[in-house]
Amino acid sequence: MDMTYNLNGGFKPTLKRFADLSGPDFFPTPAWATYALADNEHFVGDIWECACGNGSMSKVLEGAARSIVSSDLYDRGYGEAGVDFLEADWCADNIVTNPPYNAAEGFVRKGTRLARRKLALLLRLAFLEGANRANTIFAETPPSRVWVFSERITFYPAGAVRQGSGTTAYAWFVWDKDAPSGTELKWLKPGYKAMHS
Ligand SMILES: C[S@@+](CC[C@H](N)C(=O)[O-])C[C@H]1O[C@@H](n2cnc3c(N)ncnc32)[C@H](O)[C@@H]1O
Repeated sequence: MDMTYNLNGGFKPTLKRFADLSGPDFFPTPAWATYALADNEHFVGDIWECACGNGSMSKVLEGAARSIVSSDLYDRGYGEAGVDFLEADWCADNIVTNPPYNAAEGFVRKGTRLARRKLALLLRLAFLEGANRANTIFAETPPSRVWVFSERITFYPAGAVRQGSGTTAYAWFVWDKDAPSGTELKWLKPGYKAMHS
């Protein structure tokens, strides 16, 4: 395991996520958080999980689309390694991922260009804030829907013992080329965590 996740000795998931913000930021998404997306968004065509990590999200998405393509900049033992999404020139019907925190804006810009139908990114709810994003991403390419989690997601390094609960609010941000302009704010019903954990 990458020792940067153990800065304080104790297990503090939220702090550990922040400890890695300048690095590759590898925190697998709990399956239930991806089920929540698949239950509420319909995907026509293929899905590209473009920062797939160990495949946590891809494996759930397999039930939600005709085919899944998985890649990551690093070799995490799943999908095609060595593909920098920010430099990629592939297209896909849909692009779905939990991007590295420190490159979220770049993933939005690139993803809105490369996705033929939908781009769905799992981002901190606080991504909605900020003058810079208000003047750029949200002025030029506002998401079609924001699905706010009513349950907290806790991110753990792969293989870590699961304990505690998260303190950061997350949401699925969906850019849908077939949706009318404007942003719809929606809430994910509670229950996904218990159903899929
Ligand atoms: C927070 S993890 C999420 C992993 C996976 N999407 C999931 O939800 O379980 C972010 C992933 O982005 C990958 N990554 C970082 N920079 C990238 C880039 N420029 N292009 C593609 N993948 C990248 C990291 O290696 C890491 O696996």
